[in-house]
Amino acid sequence: MHYSFQIDSYEGYKAAYGKSVQQPEQFWSEIAEQFLWKKKWDKVLQWEFTTPDVKWFINGKLNITENCLDRHLASLGDKPAIIWEPNGVEEPHRVISYNELFFKVNQFVNVLRNNGVKKGDRICIYMGMVPELPIAMLACARVGAIHSVIFGGFSAQSIADRLTDANAAFIITCDGAYRGGKDIQLKSIIDDALVTCSFVRTVIVLNRTNTPVSMIKGRDIWWHEEIQKIEVQGNPVVPAEEMDSEDPLFILYTSGSTGKPKGVVHSSGGYMVYSTYSFVNVFQYKQGDVHFCTADIGWITGHTYIVYSVLCAGGTSVMYEGLPTWPDSGRLWDITDKHKVNVLYTAPTAIRSLMAYGLAPLEGKSLASLKVLGTVGEPINEEAWHWYDEHIGKKRCPIVDTWWQTETGGIMISNLAGITPSKPSYATLPLPGVQPVLVDEQGNVIEGNDVSGNLCIRYPWPSIIRTTYGDHERCRLNYFSSYKGMYFTGDGCYRDANGFYRITGRVDDVLNVSGHRIGTAEVENAINMHTGVLESAVVGYPHDLKGQGIYAFVIMDHAPDDADSIKADIMQTVSRVIGPIARPDKIQLVSGLPKTRSGKIMRRILRKIAENEPGAVGDTSTLLDPAVVEDIKNGGL
Ligand code: WT7
Repeated sequence: MHYSFQIDSYEGYKAAYGKSVQQPEQFWSEIAEQFLWKKKWDKVLQWEFTTPDVKWFINGKLNITENCLDRHLASLGDKPAIIWEPNGVEEPHRVISYNELFFKVNQFVNVLRNNGVKKGDRICIYMGMVPELPIAMLACARVGAIHSVIFGGFSAQSIADRLTDANAAFIITCDGAYRGGKDIQLKSIIDDALVTCSFVRTVIVLNRTNTPVSMIKGRDIWWHEEIQKIEVQGNPVVPAEEMDSEDPLFILYTSGSTGKPKGVVHSSGGYMVYSTYSFVNVFQYKQGDVHFCTADIGWITGHTYIVYSVLCAGGTSVMYEGLPTWPDSGRLWDITDKHKVNVLYTAPTAIRSLMAYGLAPLEGKSLASLKVLGTVGEPINEEAWHWYDEHIGKKRCPIVDTWWQTETGGIMISNLAGITPSKPSYATLPLPGVQPVLVDEQGNVIEGNDVSGNLCIRYPWPSIIRTTYGDHERCRLNYFSSYKGMYFTGDGCYRDANGFYRITGRVDDVLNVSGHRIGTAEVENAINMHTGVLESAVVGYPHDLKGQGIYAFVIMDHAPDDADSIKADIMQTVSRVIGPIARPDKIQLVSGLPKTRSGKIMRRILRKIAENEPGAVGDTSTLLDPAVVEDIKNGGL
């Protein structure tokens, strides 16, 4: 599939960027015309950032799965859409052609319809990285149901919170998931979540690991048995539901600075257009390219750059089950060679952890098929950038450092591979259609170059967050109220002398642990549930592999006899309440926390202590009890 919006020179980038700012509606209209619509839009854009209210391709009708599947069948039907590598190397990989994917998605659409799923229903998907996961997502999209994929590392409590927030009556899950040497009991975790979620009517269970599962009569059904029923019915091909451009495509929960994750809602039309536009341009997609994004589909990176954009472009998407270090740390390189991967898109944390194994795992790996490398999720340090460049890209593959967020739907600031300049540790320049602005704490726009500030975006792009599910006011407060007339990203940013952007990290109470977003308030809430805990404060600290580690200061109701065992128990509580990804790396038991006279915790001070720079805590005279700081400094872990 060739899109004529593909930029092929730096000049071309500048021209496209200029047009996107001067004539945004004309610009996006010409791009959107290259997709398959059931009915064209009447108006390109209507927006204001106060409420906020943003609509793209108004009254346009489409189904994204017709763009991912139907449109390619005639020309690419036998070409691989998905290549899947299982966790166990002895198990054969699977290649699913566009024809097969179309067939399987239709089968599962029939399963959903047989079970009463209708347009607008919310369906929670909690599965491992198996091909049935994208099949389930595409089937939801085809019937117009809104999927909410939950990462396999979240606990029963986190699932229950998300199910309740979305009022989801349907769940699609697996008996278990393989992850390295472990077999994670997904269905059992769902069973725990459902204790408090009686509104869930149907749970469809894919058999993956043959682990024993409890199947409740009238509620739990097997994927394969439902498919058998469809086969008896003759596998009817059903037309894709007609979706309005602004109908929600999916909800994806993400952490913020409050204790409760929010359901980011993406639209059908705008998300399709922007995700594909960014994919084709950033990675410089060429027909037949094999794209390997190592993310989990439970995160936005997987939604956009394993599933929707790659398929809209007619590409081949490699997905794998397991871990980069299983069965050994040559895993990603083996997959690259085996499937002749052209584009490898991964996270700095993965690069750093593989770097730590040295060069031995690279021996005998060719990596000659690679053309483009990408990173996402957190700032990449120069050391990791150069290692990636030298040892993986062999200095012949451009590296794209892609900055974006769950809320932006697609890549916002990045170089375009081989087309616009790259600079280690810089995301560089905004994509056409993206207007970044740096602002100071008072909200004044900072003009000029060689300046730092908080990163905002001043004009809508097609895949901007539309709302937070069930609570539009929260969307306004979180993103559109800090700076008038602008979307606030929560990130700090530096713009260098040439106007290149470098993301410096979050400026709110959000941590980035191994590229996963975790709210400090969420972790504190979980810690505070532990028996004996009076209060806690969580901050991030620099961690060699994870980027940021989680450091918790905890006040107990009495001094424990065995502090180590209490700390281990608190860690276990956090794993239970949120999931293993939020487990603190360090816990310090303290007698008090540094608070202002109004009772606000001074995190700046705790951060300095966690960063092991106690000398830099600065002025403590405004604290209610400055002596607390000395106690914490002397206390140690
Ligand atoms: C936060 C968004 C978007 C996919 C993965 C994470 C950080 C993301 C970069 C980058 C520096 C980055 C930001 C952002 N981030 N990409 N290339 N350089 N920081 O999605 O969970 O929504 O997190 O990740 O802090 O706000 P997310």
